[in-house]
Amino acid sequence: MNNIEIEKKEKIMNIWIKREIPVNPLNMETLEEIYEAIRSNPEKIIIIAGRNKAFSAGADIKGFLEMKPSDAFHFSTRGNEIMHFIAQHPMPVIAAIHGYALGGGFELALACDLRISTEDAVLGLPEVTLGILPGFGGTQRMKELLGESMSFDFISRGKRIKGSEAKELGLVNYLSSNPVELASQIAGEYSVLPPIALNYIKKLTRKRNDRLFEEEAELFGKIFETADQKEGAKAFLEKKKPQFTGR
Ligand code: COA
Repeated sequence: MNNIEIEKKEKIMNIWIKREIPVNPLNMETLEEIYEAIRSNPEKIIIIAGRNKAFSAGADIKGFLEMKPSDAFHFSTRGNEIMHFIAQHPMPVIAAIHGYALGGGFELALACDLRISTEDAVLGLPEVTLGILPGFGGTQRMKELLGESMSFDFISRGKRIKGSEAKELGLVNYLSSNPVELASQIAGEYSVLPPIALNYIKKLTRKRNDRLFEEEAELFGKIFETADQKEGAKAFLEKKKPQFTGR
């Protein structure tokens, strides 16, 4: 791994973006490394953060200079696949943001389940100011979070906002002066919750289609096949702390 560092602790894995450029631009090699780290750890709760002075200031603009339309199409297609993959990782994925989360960096954060930011971090999709548009699902995920008109305003003007404003808009879940510390605390809470139920909740809250009401009922039925469901009910009734095993 040339562009990321990995730390594993029991059920939690931290992925640190660490490029030689201090604002951590995301080139394809970095994205593929993040993908590989997550792919090979399907059972882990993930925290993504940046070393240096940023989460990530976005796609590597240097690489755009020579990019042909077919290369750009491939770049966006593969980037989108990786963002979908993160959004569908079985366990929660938390973005811990400091410094900058711009362009592809913010899109990476948007693909995560939770975003924790410092108050003064700068977040946004400034692609339009570079003559391009978000290409890693940012237009769609922003629309889901902000609605049509607000997301159009945000993206079409290439707005850059502080973490505090992003919290008010609902783009980040929590503000913290130490986002990784808060992310680790939340990941710790997840690590004692039943993973199958967590996975079903993630499926239902992150996927969008009309079948989700039916699927909710199906998965509600399926969760009752698990030992963790029985343990949860039994522990509650016996006034004990449940010990979930993932079965
Ligand atoms: N890709 C490649 N290099 C980048 C980059 C990016 N997305 N963002 C910043 N850099 C480089 C700069 O070119 C500069 O390199 P240099 O030291 O060789 O000149 C270095 O990182 C520091 O950037 P600089 O602008 O001097 O630092 P700053 O602290 O004044 O500003 C940012 C930081 C992040 C606000 C500013 O660099 C910026 O706006 N970057 C572009 C963000 C963007 O548009 N992202 C969307 C890309 S699609």
